[in-house]
Formats: sequence, structure tokens, C-alpha cells
Amino acid sequence: MPEALSPHEVRAALATRWLGHPLVVLDRVDSTNRAAMEDTGLGHGAVLAARRQTAGKGRMGRTWQVPDGTVPFSLVLAPQISPDRMQLLTLATAVGLTDGIREHLHLSVDIKWPNDLLVDGKKLAGILTEARSDPDRIMRAVVGIGLNVNTDAGAMTGELAGRTTSLKTMLGRRVPVSPLLANILSALEAVYDELAGASGPEQILERYRERCVTLGREVTVRERNGSVRTCRANGVDGHGALLVITPEGKQERLFSADVSLSARDALAEGAG
Ligand code: BTN
Repeated sequence: MPEALSPHEVRAALATRWLGHPLVVLDRVDSTNRAAMEDTGLGHGAVLAARRQTAGKGRMGRTWQVPDGTVPFSLVLAPQISPDRMQLLTLATAVGLTDGIREHLHLSVDIKWPNDLLVDGKKLAGILTEARSDPDRIMRAVVGIGLNVNTDAGAMTGELAGRTTSLKTMLGRRVPVSPLLANILSALEAVYDELAGASGPEQILERYRERCVTLGREVTVRERNGSVRTCRANGVDGHGALLVITPEGKQERLFSADVSLSARDALAEGAG
């Protein structure tokens, strides 16, 4: 099966210096993020992928559906950034993932703040960053990515039906997973190197803002306390927070709210 995830094929195609070393592919796991966080034998640069994930974690405490064809993988990082800038890891990952997909498959992908990849308004991938930190330093970050590669159009159930897409759906053919993953890891390594380098996050944030379909739009903001407001999204700041203008005309910084582009998009969050 040329489209199955094979660690040998990924390693053969892998041109990275540090990301994907080691690369671990499990047949089945509850959550690659959980496993990557708990396996302290996996250090900076390790990638843990799975052929099946039974209890995937999504953003805001949701579960993440992984039907056949969706590829879950998690990256272990020890980033040199302070805990209050952790959101930058998610945003940099969105930029690297869109770079990798565009370079390998010539497919243009949008970003919805903070962590969704969309094509034609439907969710192609989600990113969940988790970390163990002390007050000054992130000790261990795990960046989990769920990418709908060869997922069938009807595979998502419940409220997610019709709200997601896959590379196969967009391109009209099955996509071999191993070379795709190798290319994505190269693009991610480049963006993490840039984040750690002298130029810092600003150029990554510029690329993020160019691809971010949330900006300039009226958005529905749902917060953990249950409040729902319609705001205007007008920027992403240097920490990765979304800047919105509230109905009262005040500017606020959002870090973790659910932001939907329209009522129809509201439930697409958490889609696998
Ligand atoms: C979202 O809610 O959009 C984020 C979804 C992230 C899912 C991925 S799949 C691989 C990794 N392991 C998990 O349990 N979750 C992330």
C-alpha cells in the first residue's frame, strides 16, 4: 500500500538535521500527544506517529476523530522560549505545515486562528500544543498534528459531517503518506530553526498573517466562561494572540477562545 505510513520510507526520504530523529511509528495508541509527553526517552526532535489513534485530544478539551486516512503525529520540542510565548509554537507549526503541503503537493492552504488549516473553508488539519513548563522556561513541548490525508469525504460523523476535507478529496487521488510526512518535517524544521534564530518570530508571524483567513473578518468568539460575542478580528500580535474589536469598540487580546468565521463554521472546531 503506497499510501500507508511506513517508518522505513519516511526515514529514506527524510532530509532533516534534527526533526524526526528518532521517528517512532506505533500501530495503535490512545493519543500521540499523551504518549509523546509521557515518554521521557523521547527528546527534542523526536516524532511519534501512529497508524490508529483511539482517543485523540483536540483543542479546548474536545476529542479528535481519527478515521482511516487521517494521520496523527506529535513532535517533541525543547524550545528556548518563555511559557507566555508558547502560542508561537502553534502558529509556527501552522506556517510550516502549510509550507510543506504547498511545496510537496502544490496546494494552497489557509489558516484559521490559531490552529486550523482550511481548504475552501473546510478543516484539513488541526494542531494541539501542550507543554510542561516552570515559570521561566518550557521544559518539554509536544506539538500534535492531525492531518486528513486520505480520509474519505463521508468519514466524519455527527456535527463534523461535511465540515472537513482531506488532501485526497482536494486532489482527487490518494496521497502517499511517507514522502508527504518527510517533506512536512523538513518544512517544520526550517520554521522552528527560524523561530529559534536571530530573526525571531516576526517573519513567521508575517507569513501567518498573510495566510490567516480570520483577519479582517467578523468572528463569533466563544469563551470558556460561556460568553458569545461578535467581534472584528484585526490582528495577531507578537505573542500570537488574536486582536479583536469588541461590540463596545474596545480592543482585546484573545489567547484561547473559540473563534468561528460564521455561524456555519462554529462546530468545525475540533473536526478531525
Ligand atoms: C484541534 O482541536 O483542532 C487540534 C487537534 C489535534 C489533533 C492531534 S492528532 C495528533 C495529536 N495527538 C492528539 O491526541 N491530538 C493531536
